[in-house]
Amino acid sequence: MSDLIEPVIGVIGGSGLYDIDGLEDRQWRRIESPWGEPSDEVLTGRLDGVRCVFLPRHGRGHRVPPSELNYRANIDVLKRAGVTEVLSISAVGSLNGDLPPGHFVVVDQFIDRSFARKKSFFETGLVAHVSMAHPVCARLGDAAEAALRDLQIPHKRGGTYLVMEGPQFSTKAESELYRAWGCDVIGMTNMPEAKLAREAELCYATVAMVTDFDCWHPDHDHVTVDAVIKVMQANADKAKALVKAVIPALGKPRGPCPQGCDRALEMALITPPEK
Ligand code: ADE
Repeated sequence: MSDLIEPVIGVIGGSGLYDIDGLEDRQWRRIESPWGEPSDEVLTGRLDGVRCVFLPRHGRGHRVPPSELNYRANIDVLKRAGVTEVLSISAVGSLNGDLPPGHFVVVDQFIDRSFARKKSFFETGLVAHVSMAHPVCARLGDAAEAALRDLQIPHKRGGTYLVMEGPQFSTKAESELYRAWGCDVIGMTNMPEAKLAREAELCYATVAMVTDFDCWHPDHDHVTVDAVIKVMQANADKAKALVKAVIPALGKPRGPCPQGCDRALEMALITPPEK
């Protein structure tokens, strides 16, 4: 008997990415969650025979700001839809002179400076502390990196994503502080998303698309939404190509996650199970 599972690929589309190109048997489906309202219905379908579930992070029409996203419901509906791996695509500012607008970063670390969000599925009555030492699934990162290389999209493997609360962009002093901390990119959405994916025992990786040089850069005194949107549109076509290439690669039957993302709770629960 084989223990292989058939992966179901979840894609969380950030600013500029609202669909999966080439998806067949498409259906927008409303999924109920005990954690409240997700950002939108999910788009289900198949790409090259691989089951996919797409969720527009801010909803269709970009209606929900970062601090008001129901991150718990968003991860929960993906889990309920059968998703096993989550590819999270996000627009970010750059804190690194070697990462100009148009570059993509396969993020491997986060610094979470968000503060006005529900960050855990575990509350009074059931206590768990999952490890976030390695917050993304390296296997998903490998697949994203390979696709970016094949598509000749300028990219960097590895990088630290600073998550700010927003919705305002950073002050110059904050931007310089985050650079001094060694952060590469800055955005408003990938935490607590990555933490909740880990609690939900989902493999998760972020591909960050640089739209601007944040305000630290001598030639970019401040960030404007106008400038961000211009680059975002160019990035969106690359992101669509990336998603189309990654899904078949990740869709092959697989064994347990070598990193243990799919068993993250095994060592994390403190509350003894009820007798
Ligand atoms: N998203 C895109 N650009 C950003 C920036 N400079 N700061 C925070 N979030 C962003």
